Amino acid sequence: MTDRQLADLAYEMLQFSYVPYSKFPVGAALLCADGTVYTGCNVENAAYGSTICAERTALVKAVSEGHRDDFVRLAVVGLSSDYCWPCGACRQMLYEFAPNLELLVGRGDRQFTKLTLADLLPHGFGPKALN
Ligand code: THU
Repeated sequence: MTDRQLADLAYEMLQFSYVPYSKFPVGAALLCADGTVYTGCNVENAAYGSTICAERTALVKAVSEGHRDDFVRLAVVGLSSDYCWPCGACRQMLYEFAPNLELLVGRGDRQFTKLTLADLLPHGFGPKALN
């Protein structure tokens, strides 16, 4: 799976975003070491705080199907002119399972940039901190 293919899977998910409030669709695609990809979109709620982001949708789909420690790369994309940077809550949730995760972050012209979760969340608080 190339980076472009993973990013394109995330762009495909924009059509499923449920965004009546923000009108800001976000798509995600999470690649596991065995080649499995879990996709996600943002799903908003009339009680705004109950909204779930696209990345967390993909993550909880993967974890709920038995994946925990084999996450390789995540694409997260939006339609804005700037890259769709993952929010703080998503960075934290991803850090729990994949502190070394690679990220592809895309924008509306379908260009994406590549970096790591550690770039976005240095000195993260994770399971090891509780030992
Ligand atoms: N959103 C995501 O899906 N992922 C992020 O990391 C940033 C924000 C969604 C949540 C909400 O539905 C919309 O973008 C506007 O905040």
